[in-house]
Amino acid sequence: MEAYHLIKNGSSKTAFELREINLEEPTKNQVQIEVEVFGLNFADVMARLGYYKACPPLPTVIGYDVVGRITKLGNQVKDFKVGQRVTALTRFGAYSTHVNTSYYGVVPIEEDTDAATATALATQYSTAYYAAEYSMNLRKGEKVLIQAAAGGVGTALVQLAKRKGCIIYGTAGSEEKLKYLQKQGVDFPINYKENDFYEYIKQQKGDKSIDVIFDSIGGNYVKKALKLLAPGGRLAMYGAAQIAGDTDKKSLYRQLKTLFGFGKYRPTQFFGNSQAIIGVNMLQIGDYKPYILKECMTEVVELYKKGEIKPVVSKVFYAKDLAEAHEYLQKRKSVGKLVCKW
Ligand SMILES: NC(=O)c1ccc[n+]([C@@H]2O[C@H](COP(=O)([O-])OP(=O)(O)OC[C@H]3O[C@@H](n4cnc5c(N)ncnc54)[C@H](OP(=O)(O)O)[C@@H]3O)[C@@H](O)[C@H]2O)c1
Repeated sequence: MEAYHLIKNGSSKTAFELREINLEEPTKNQVQIEVEVFGLNFADVMARLGYYKACPPLPTVIGYDVVGRITKLGNQVKDFKVGQRVTALTRFGAYSTHVNTSYYGVVPIEEDTDAATATALATQYSTAYYAAEYSMNLRKGEKVLIQAAAGGVGTALVQLAKRKGCIIYGTAGSEEKLKYLQKQGVDFPINYKENDFYEYIKQQKGDKSIDVIFDSIGGNYVKKALKLLAPGGRLAMYGAAQIAGDTDKKSLYRQLKTLFGFGKYRPTQFFGNSQAIIGVNMLQIGDYKPYILKECMTEVVELYKKGEIKPVVSKVFYAKDLAEAHEYLQKRKSVGKLVCKW
């Protein structure tokens, strides 16, 4: 058994080292999985750069999702079998040939399901599903703004909002990604490098014209987006990609800029406009409401089987090329999901 350990913050070229591991026996609620493919998530880039508070002390094994086969079962785990093929949301530890994880984040998949596609269903689709269905309770005809709509969670949100009959405004940072958004059915794709999303929507529809906002960028993006929020509107905040920037160097300036960029809010302004900002953090849901994580994971796998959602895989790397895969994600080259196979 071996795993890529995050040994150092900074450049992906020096951050990871392949080491032997001695995985313990799964605890009572865990299963052990032999990993076929592990996924990359933007939070992994944040962890590598040293911005991710929940990341365990280094050296550690990061990574949130895998597809593989169950090799061992904890003594309280029912409804799973050794040998079963599964997709799983792991709480770190995924950049590994084997991982132990709580059965609440594990769902069986068919033998012929594409491994990379099924990896997207774990963290990115379950997060999007929780945000869209539990936090935002999307309704038909609602106008929805999705930031970084071409990314992993972004693509999932677009598909889930389309399924609900929403009208979608989606932002992305290149013409190539805009074409991708059009193909995905985004009604108003916005290249935020050419058009300020706030000015664009304000000109088209005016302030207070958007019912639901999904934000993963943070800082002044949230402040500006709130001006577009209609009475009765909701904003889901689930990331702060702005902090990462384009360099490997940790920047206190960018952290403070993002923090102060959010602006100041009074509870009465939300009460007065019947609005809400709701944070989404799937690690906390997994820790405190694991049965909800289970529901989200099970539901997205069902929707995938019914053909109602279709994850898009940007690229499949070999695990030995993990540094390159990280660079690809950090430099915003990917659409949809990135994975590494052993
Ligand atoms: N809270 C949770 O439980 C949870 C769970 C999963 C993911 N997330 C968050 O959701 C977001 C999306 O995650 P993902 O894994 O699906 O990643 P992703 O969207 O595939 O990749 C991140 C995208 O963010 C955009 N971006 C905007 N500003 C950026 C900046 N300053 N630096 C880098 N990228 C920037 C880029 O798209 P453009 O090229 O279009 O700018 C980039 O492709 C991340 O913020 C992540 O932390 C949160």
